[in-house]
Amino acid sequence: MTHIAARSDGDRGTYVDIGSLRSRSEHAGVSDRRPITVPADRYISTGFAAREEQLMWPKVWQLATTLDSVPAPGDYVEFTVGRLSAIVLRDQSGTLRAFQNVCLHRGIELCHGSGEGLTELRCQYHRWCWNLDGALKEIPSRRDFGVIDNEEYGLRALAVDTWGPLVFVNFDPDAMPLAEYLGGAPADAAHQGLDDFRCRFQVTVPVPANWKTTADGFSETLHVQGLHPELLHIYDDLDSDQVAWTHAARSRQPYGRPSPRIRPVPSDQEIWNAYAAVFSSRVGLDPADPGPVPPIGEGQTLLSVMADQLRAARAAQGVDLDRFTDEQLMTLDQYNIFPNITVLVFPDLLSVLRSRPGDTPDSCYLDAFQFDRVAPDDTASRTKPLCVDVPLGEASFGLVLDQDFALLRHAQRGLHQPGLTRLTLAQEEIRVLNTHRNLERYLGIEPSEIEGDHAFA
Ligand code: FES
Ligand SMILES: [Fe+2]
Repeated sequence: MTHIAARSDGDRGTYVDIGSLRSRSEHAGVSDRRPITVPADRYISTGFAAREEQLMWPKVWQLATTLDSVPAPGDYVEFTVGRLSAIVLRDQSGTLRAFQNVCLHRGIELCHGSGEGLTELRCQYHRWCWNLDGALKEIPSRRDFGVIDNEEYGLRALAVDTWGPLVFVNFDPDAMPLAEYLGGAPADAAHQGLDDFRCRFQVTVPVPANWKTTADGFSETLHVQGLHPELLHIYDDLDSDQVAWTHAARSRQPYGRPSPRIRPVPSDQEIWNAYAAVFSSRVGLDPADPGPVPPIGEGQTLLSVMADQLRAARAAQGVDLDRFTDEQLMTLDQYNIFPNITVLVFPDLLSVLRSRPGDTPDSCYLDAFQFDRVAPDDTASRTKPLCVDVPLGEASFGLVLDQDFALLRHAQRGLHQPGLTRLTLAQEEIRVLNTHRNLERYLGIEPSEIEGDHAFA
């Protein structure tokens, strides 16, 4: 049974346990009497997007890149979100730094794309130049400018910090520390050992949907029964528990056993077939013909057989998963970090999805980061990921994500229909609601509603 309960966690905001469907939250606005609704306008309005651009994006911690993209002194990456642009680099002493991507002469961007071997940041326009620590190094024709204070003309630094292999930046010099922003997520994920993951691919796909439409698709599992029926054979969607901190939330999703929604209870062979269809590349099974269920020995279950297979497959690659229980190996933890990050982690897999606003409220960029686990302390495995841009539909991200991505254009078009003025949220959609509660705080607007009195206004 999925449950929700909430309590105030002091200054850190509302803490929501999924406890009882019959309990309710005063603080997060979850009610068991009426649904909570939010205005559809937030997903399609240029005015709302402009408020996000002005009041939210410059104030929040954002995933900019991964440690694998900036492993050595002189490595750099440009990160853009809307009109904001940052340079993330490793300076010559090995310190990770981030700056606003702008020359302080007449404002041209300093860097494009990514690269290595940087020893200074020199503007291509009139050749002003900075050291990699942001200190002004040189102004050609300096006497023409009169007296320039070097201190005043240092590059504009961003806050930068990491969670596992993920590099976050914040354009706000007064931002709270990342560790505080992430709330309970790092401690909750400590057993996963995120430091041992290496980014192999970063794929960017333009999507005809608002960045929130896209992020919402990875913020609830209510849609599994509609969009991913295959998952119901191997994922118990009614027994996922959720926790929401202020900016972060987590859903813990048990795999390896069927949803109680499925009647009659599927056979082991049906579960095995679904496992192969959903996780074919993870487990090396032919999704179309995975063969018979492996023998289930004395004291074993189908779930423990699946877990043993995963351990054996990763052991062959030099990765020891023995410290994880069978349940842990078959449990997906999904962290949603406000505003636009989804971190999906099994002990042997890490995927991160990010949606960045596009040129209109009806477009965004979906970035998919794919990681492999390596042996602990394997620093040699830190190599730069392959970064590619792919049109939507021209690359496969696996059965489930392909289903998610294909839906997005329709989800966005529907939001424009005049008869749909508000979105109606279930208690299971607490992470979608959490996004809206955060948005309301940053944009300085009242909560959409607390008691759900205006469901069809
Ligand atoms: S704009 Fe960069 S040196 Fe002139
Ligand atoms: Fe999905």
